[in-house]
Amino acid sequence: MTESSDAARRVVQLRSAGVALILDLRSAGLPTVVHWGADPGPCDQAELNAMAEAAVPPHVDNLIDGPVSHSVLPESHTGWFGIPGLSGSRGGVAWAPRFTVNTAVQEARRLTVEAADPSIALGLRLTIELTGSGLVRLRTAVRNDGDDAYRVDAVSAVLPVPERAGELFDLAGRWSRERQPQRGPFTMGVHLREGRRGRTGADAATVVVAGIAGFGFRSGEVWAVHMAWSGNHRTWAERTGEGFRTLGGGESLLPGEIVLRPGETYESPELFFGWADGLDELASRFHRHLRERPHHPGSARPVGLNVWEAVYFDHDLATLLTLAERGAAIGVERFVLDDGWFHHRNGPDRGLGDWFVDEQSWPDGLHPLVDRVKELGMTFGLWFEPEMVSPRSELAVAHPEWIMRARPQLPPASRGQQVLDLTHPKAFDHVLARMSAVITEYGVGYLKWDHNRDLIEAPGVHRQTLAAYRLMDELRAAFPGLEIESCSSGGARVDLGVLEHTDRVWASDCIDPLERQTIQRWTSQLIPLELIGGHVASAVSHTTGRRHDLAFRAITSLFAHFGLELDLTRLDDAETAELAEWIAVYKRYRALLHSGTLVRDEHLSTGRWLTGVVTPELALYSVAALRRSDEEPAGRMTFPGLDPARHYAVQLVGPNRDDLGHRPGWLGSPAPRFSGATLGTVGVRLPALRPETAMLIEISALPGTAP
Ligand code: GLA
Repeated sequence: MTESSDAARRVVQLRSAGVALILDLRSAGLPTVVHWGADPGPCDQAELNAMAEAAVPPHVDNLIDGPVSHSVLPESHTGWFGIPGLSGSRGGVAWAPRFTVNTAVQEARRLTVEAADPSIALGLRLTIELTGSGLVRLRTAVRNDGDDAYRVDAVSAVLPVPERAGELFDLAGRWSRERQPQRGPFTMGVHLREGRRGRTGADAATVVVAGIAGFGFRSGEVWAVHMAWSGNHRTWAERTGEGFRTLGGGESLLPGEIVLRPGETYESPELFFGWADGLDELASRFHRHLRERPHHPGSARPVGLNVWEAVYFDHDLATLLTLAERGAAIGVERFVLDDGWFHHRNGPDRGLGDWFVDEQSWPDGLHPLVDRVKELGMTFGLWFEPEMVSPRSELAVAHPEWIMRARPQLPPASRGQQVLDLTHPKAFDHVLARMSAVITEYGVGYLKWDHNRDLIEAPGVHRQTLAAYRLMDELRAAFPGLEIESCSSGGARVDLGVLEHTDRVWASDCIDPLERQTIQRWTSQLIPLELIGGHVASAVSHTTGRRHDLAFRAITSLFAHFGLELDLTRLDDAETAELAEWIAVYKRYRALLHSGTLVRDEHLSTGRWLTGVVTPELALYSVAALRRSDEEPAGRMTFPGLDPARHYAVQLVGPNRDDLGHRPGWLGSPAPRFSGATLGTVGVRLPALRPETAMLIEISALPGTAP
């Protein structure tokens, strides 16, 4: 049992993992933030009071007659002119809340605040928690205590960042080029990242970061916000003339989407806020948080073979059996049959919704394939797109009323498909029943769960998103051990909301390793490597037409949940043998890669990117040349994250590295020994790299060198 204490009318300090959130509840109003950032250590009430007093802004001319402030759910009566915490009304009135706190209870690192504004008949609950890894997790619930309907337009929460946060960073993108970084000054106004696509979006910000100018991977204070939600959402950074700088977020609601009847409550999705010294520490706080969840995948992440880029819609049993056999022979552990297996699905514009095995392509059902896959010792995975329907499918013809639309006409088709309204209970039950039947019949252990279009003129994104989560949960409850991959035209559903219901994300439809270096680097700003799908594709990328050697493709995929997605029948014996060796390399290091700490670096003048996963005993680094270097030979490479007091051996690993340029003399055998301090601060020369190639380096602690 956690002890709880009354926090009302006090200053409260929540502390975890070097982070403190100090909240002022001394007035009757909603909590204001005295401090969010580095933990000053335990403070007594006198010190907290003094700190809160010293944070009150002095009066200046032409503002309200009283100190200006804002709570975590800003209200206009405090002199706040930024994005309001609550927007809503009862037919145009009751839109200017003044909540007062009734109870505030602190249990360990969590504070639950119950507030109300009886004059407009609204209740409010704020749940503010500091997670074990030092993230702030915030949820808001608004309750209608009145006798008539209350329309909620937006519920937004914010945390302040200090004046020294002068620079912003976030991610952007498009299909097959997700999570591209962008940076700029923190100027006046709102830097708003809104997603109105009915899914997280390939263009999602993922994290909005404010930091001291020039912050990097390992230094520079950063503050960040992420919204754990796969529907419409807004996150932002806002700066006002009163000296307020905030990071905020909330669900982006459609007009009239949330109308609370008397007694009803709207629960916002969760917002996560992170403070750290540098982007690597910020990432590690998110990673630790995900890894500490009880349902985080605990077993070794299996090597998958997804056949999409090998066969597309062309499902021929003999070919698929050959792929399964070749895969198993080189170490594949999971075989995933992608799109194309169900009724009349020989192109992207048909069949969705008819989750029956197609009799023409599969006269004996999937059994001949599934049986062989299992005989070969692999688990079987299958593709579904449960939230979608093809207009010409049997399902759409039988139930046109299940197609989501806001008006009599259908929304414009995208990829030839429409959205199935899962908020319709019968549609939900139908999909659940069909998926359950297929999973049961074939003992499916893994679902690739796709979602391939934006929602346009979709009346209920909030409820549809919750319905999709519930469908995932019902399947996971009915089939213990079933794993789900969140895919959405590649990486358009990557967020901490969907990861509460799934086991990994597909980062992108682009598996060109050059593109993947960037996509995975920035996906891992939020998500640990074991939850990011990364596949070795064909030598010539199907998306970009670029050609890359196997080492670059494999090394890039190692820093993810490794898998294959290429036509194994086209490889010659040497390539097959090399691929088998890379699979063995993955198996050798996956325990490290999927539990250690991620470190990243970028060498601007040589175009080399360092990506590593470290523990005090063992580290694996990839050094990738993203372009030709401005200088040759490149300078010394330093390796962050090692224990400065231990001694380590450094060696190149992976097959077939004769292609690497002249090796520096020190890189021979026996492997020389360096201290962690030397490797972290002085560095070593590495072989030259041609553009768009990579090398893999193992750094392992020498026995008996523990401090
Ligand atoms: C989406 C996915 C791909 C593949 C296809 C199948 O584009 O991102 O990986 O599954 O659908 O149609």
